[in-house]
Amino acid sequence: MRIVVVGSANDTAKVALDSIKETLKKKPNSVICFPTGSSPLPLYNAMVEDYKKKKTSYKDVITFNLDEYKGLGSKHNQSYRYFMDVNLFNNIDINPDNINFPNGVLKDLKGECARYHKLLEENHRDIQILGIGSNGHIGFNEPGTPFDSTTHVVSLSASTIRDNSRFFTSIKEVPKQAITMGLSEIIDSDKIILIATGINKAKAVRDCVKGPIDESCPASILQKHDNVLLILDKDAASLL
Ligand code: F6R
Repeated sequence: MRIVVVGSANDTAKVALDSIKETLKKKPNSVICFPTGSSPLPLYNAMVEDYKKKKTSYKDVITFNLDEYKGLGSKHNQSYRYFMDVNLFNNIDINPDNINFPNGVLKDLKGECARYHKLLEENHRDIQILGIGSNGHIGFNEPGTPFDSTTHVVSLSASTIRDNSRFFTSIKEVPKQAITMGLSEIIDSDKIILIATGINKAKAVRDCVKGPIDESCPASILQKHDNVLLILDKDAASLL
């Protein structure tokens, strides 16, 4: 793993963007899988600014997203699709036809997982971008998720519901289930960029980097991959 420690959350953006642009230069039709949440927000802001100023084009890029809440449609302001539209997709020249997302409002969620898995199999990722949960989750793969898991429906852990309640007006509104890409699909990417900031990520980052490769810390699967870039602020790196 290559670990870059930067001064602040905003500084993570430049390192991540440089790495993405390096890949896009070689392959303008790269397949990129994105996370939502606070960790990648500085990156998405930087991508939009860079697109406006330097005209880096995403028109041939194919995108996937890691996860989506069960029951929240694309127009719901807490859905992950809405987050991506508002913070990134609507502000760059991405082709809407190239955006792939799990659909959390379908009745047949099992069928939806199978559809998404097939698409992922057909579109090997060049870049997988990740955040990490304070319990070591990646995507919504909570501790104990098998490393060979594929896209599936999950029940969110109490700690994840608590962490994510900051985006909702009350904890009761946080959906209890979600669709998430599985761990075997997440590591099926040429390059993985994980961004973590803040002291509440320090233990998860330590377990990811230095702990045993074990399903009790889903992010520890990254130790099996030979092209991982970890971008951390000082607080997130403080236990390394
Ligand atoms: C979101 C996702 C999650 C987040 C993680 C960290 O799509 O897959 O694994 O990356 O919960 O969230 P933040 O960045 O909000 O701390």
